[in-house]
Amino acid sequence: MNYKAIIEKVFVETKRVPNNGKIATYIPELANVDPTMFGVHMTDLKGEGFGMGDNLEKFSIQSIAKVLSLTLAYKIVGEKIWKRVDVEPSGTKFDSLLLLEVHKGIPRNPFVNSGAIVICDILISHLKDAKVEFLEFVRDVSNLPDLVYSDKIADSEKAHGYRNVALCNFIKSLGNIENDPTEVLDFYFDMCSLEMNCQQLSHTMTYLANGGRKITDGSKIITKPQSKRMNALMLTCGFYDESGEFAFKVGLPGKSGVGGGIVAVYPQHYAIAVWSPKLNPNGNSFLGMKFLEEFTTHSDFTIF
Ligand code: DON
Repeated sequence: MNYKAIIEKVFVETKRVPNNGKIATYIPELANVDPTMFGVHMTDLKGEGFGMGDNLEKFSIQSIAKVLSLTLAYKIVGEKIWKRVDVEPSGTKFDSLLLLEVHKGIPRNPFVNSGAIVICDILISHLKDAKVEFLEFVRDVSNLPDLVYSDKIADSEKAHGYRNVALCNFIKSLGNIENDPTEVLDFYFDMCSLEMNCQQLSHTMTYLANGGRKITDGSKIITKPQSKRMNALMLTCGFYDESGEFAFKVGLPGKSGVGGGIVAVYPQHYAIAVWSPKLNPNGNSFLGMKFLEEFTTHSDFTIF
């Protein structure tokens, strides 16, 4: 099947859909983005790709970085990691405090904010300098040697991230944060501040379509069973309380971010990144969801 023709057709059609989404403003810096941006890029396992629209414009990947932090922590800690975070969909918003009390400080999964904060704590406990070593890891996975944290975005979130401060302190009080909450949050906010364009993001995530190996040199990032589990978590938990709907409509493992990015993976085939900053009420890109739904519904590019 010719994926270029389908991407082109679906992109043009989706661009015409009235965009009822709203840009995220709780991180003030995110509100400065042009809301009309819309880009898509697919990368296959040969490293060949195809993009449309604003696919080469950088954006804040936000929660999509949680896939990379989990990958590094899983690589280091192995299966013991699941003692600290669970693998169940939360059915709640990404920044909810609700279930932590019930589950005694064990977040439902590593992609809700509470889970990603615990993953940051794990990385700090296992690395000499988590901020530096995580960045080196992402540079290697993405083949982007010049990648840096965005101080502008991180500082903006640091000044307003009251819910994350509450989450981290609450988990600490329940005994599931080992390090100083200020240090954990500082790393978490930096981790979320990474910026990539759709081409770079789709390329970065191809290891999850390739059994945990980089497509460029075949080097192992994580094992095949670990890659399987990462994909399973993305399918069941990647879109918070819209994960069921994403699986239902799109049918691919994926991960969204409040910057309006979505990455989706078709194991053995490709990774695709879509970006449009306006979000639906669940915090997922309005047009991004629409694009991917149409793309997998009218092609063979789906696991179901
Ligand atoms: O912690 C936050 O709220 C943001 N840094 C990340 C949230 C996010 O991207 C949720 N995704 N849809």
